[in-house]
Amino acid sequence: MNATPVVVLVSGGGSNLAALLEATRDPAYGVEIVAVGADREGTGGVEIARAAGIPAFVCRVGDHADRAAWDAALTEFCEGYGPALVISAGFMKLVGPAFLARFGGRLLNTHPALLPSFPGITGAQDALDYGVKVTGATLFLVDEGVDTGVILAQCVVPVEDADTVETLTERIKVAERAQLVEFVGRMAREGWTVSGRRARIGASGELKETGL
Ligand code: GRF
Repeated sequence: MNATPVVVLVSGGGSNLAALLEATRDPAYGVEIVAVGADREGTGGVEIARAAGIPAFVCRVGDHADRAAWDAALTEFCEGYGPALVISAGFMKLVGPAFLARFGGRLLNTHPALLPSFPGITGAQDALDYGVKVTGATLFLVDEGVDTGVILAQCVVPVEDADTVETLTERIKVAERAQLVEFVGRMAREGWTVSGRRARIGASGELKETGL
């Protein structure tokens, strides 16, 4: 089986990228990270990529005339690597229409809360502030909205009485990484289908039709 080519987009430390990279060391995982892209200089994610000998690029909004030009450039960068899937792993930018036209339906994002609860960039803080007893992580297909796309997988993480935003964020990230690695591998190996808002991973050969 040929490995599924994947581009990973990052803005931060890249712990999700590192977990994916570790998984790809086993050929049976079925995924090859063909490039890593960032929206800013100096990210840990790009350092991880370079250390592993994976092509890395930086595409900054500020280096383009406007947001649309940046979106087109990001699309072009990614396209150049021919990915079957693009994974936003802590990528702190919303992609635009050009990117979605090219990669919609195969652009994954991971969010540190149980969507549709607590969308946006402060998911762990919002869960604490609301006082929920469980939160978690959501893997979803990116659409035009903010954290509104079709949900691929979710996992539950308890909120402890003594939690701070730091301890809760760390507990979520551990679960989030495991989920990301499991489901990216399954999607690459088994395909998936989407019907309305409901996604199914694997389960039968015919599912390959709308997956990879
Ligand atoms: C993840 O928790 C992701 O959900 C959020 O940013 C974090 C990225 O972490 N959007 P890392 O850069 O992969 O360590």
